[in-house]
Amino acid sequence: VTNSESSPQPDLAALLEGLVAVEEAGRARLAGAQTVDALRLVTQEVLGKRSELAATNSQLRLLAVEDRPVLGQAVQQVRERLEVEADTRRAGLEAAERAARDRAEAMDLTEAAALAAAEATPLAATLPLPPLPGHRHLVTIVREELEDIFVGMGYQVAEGPEAETDWHNFEALNMPPNHPARGMFDTFYLNLGQPGSVVLRTHTSPVQIRLMETSAPPIYAVAPGRVYRRDTPDARHLAEFHQIEGLVVDRRISMGDLAGTIEAFTSAFFGPGRHSRLRPSFFPFTEPSAEFDVTCWVCAGEGCRTCSHSGWVELGGCGMVDPNVLQAVGIDPEQWSGFAFGFGIDRLAQARTDLSDMRALLDNDIRFISQF
Ligand code: DAH
Repeated sequence: VTNSESSPQPDLAALLEGLVAVEEAGRARLAGAQTVDALRLVTQEVLGKRSELAATNSQLRLLAVEDRPVLGQAVQQVRERLEVEADTRRAGLEAAERAARDRAEAMDLTEAAALAAAEATPLAATLPLPPLPGHRHLVTIVREELEDIFVGMGYQVAEGPEAETDWHNFEALNMPPNHPARGMFDTFYLNLGQPGSVVLRTHTSPVQIRLMETSAPPIYAVAPGRVYRRDTPDARHLAEFHQIEGLVVDRRISMGDLAGTIEAFTSAFFGPGRHSRLRPSFFPFTEPSAEFDVTCWVCAGEGCRTCSHSGWVELGGCGMVDPNVLQAVGIDPEQWSGFAFGFGIDRLAQARTDLSDMRALLDNDIRFISQF
């Protein structure tokens, strides 16, 4: 084979050797790109028309015909390997940029683990993050929705301890020792301090006392949390469940404010066309007291088995804060008045999801939990 062109014939061995250096340099440049944008430029420079790889390829036509496929294939293989390198690097950079963006925007603590892993290991930082395992429990989802509704009405969210003093759980709530109303609550006492002085709280109402002890009116707050009862668990009861308490103390608060607040909450949670009503009742810490019902969530008020054909389902208790309770925490009942309410969160979760047996909320069966 003769070469009729005037350029000197390149040396195949030298070209192949040069190709090794081209590949190595290309890899280093791709790995050095620190952002997706920078990588785009570098990829262009390493693999594009003006790259060294392209220049090597252009030597093909100067080679002896039988040598051309050798260099051609070698160039093609280097190109493919560098392309894979560029793709992998881009995926890593995109994931890192996404993670940085999430970190800047997010307050969701469930993301912390994956982000920490991405920071701790360089490998994790270069690979796309897998979807995070797990999510919030149904009860937590409903609790946060309730918090959002009340925060939207200007309420604070407060928390109190689950191991509560007799004073907060009973006495300050107008239930002195031996008060008959303690009977329906009497529950798990802890072996702490004076015998019978610390109890697993039976309701979230003691947070009312803690709120009033620590802040002066006006008070607008809700307090969600776990409570304990001496109940035998069945389809509609748990011995360990969740309530949300509401407390408002301000000047000239009336029963009308209470009814309006319950109604606002009901339509925000259940949707328009769902209403509430109050029925006279008794609680030691409110006077007057009421139970409140909401439009039956199953039949929308038409009447069905769930609501015993009344169209209403009982949700919780409420009333005007008893002057004795205000006095117990040193708030002058002549100047201030307030209302309070409390209801079960698990019941709402049950209603929302048409759950036949409440015990599923505590079973930790992933097949149930992962549905929400
Ligand atoms: N603590 C009551 C219970 O667990 C519910 C309740 C009734 C809370 C009336 C209130 C209220 O704040 O005013 O049964």
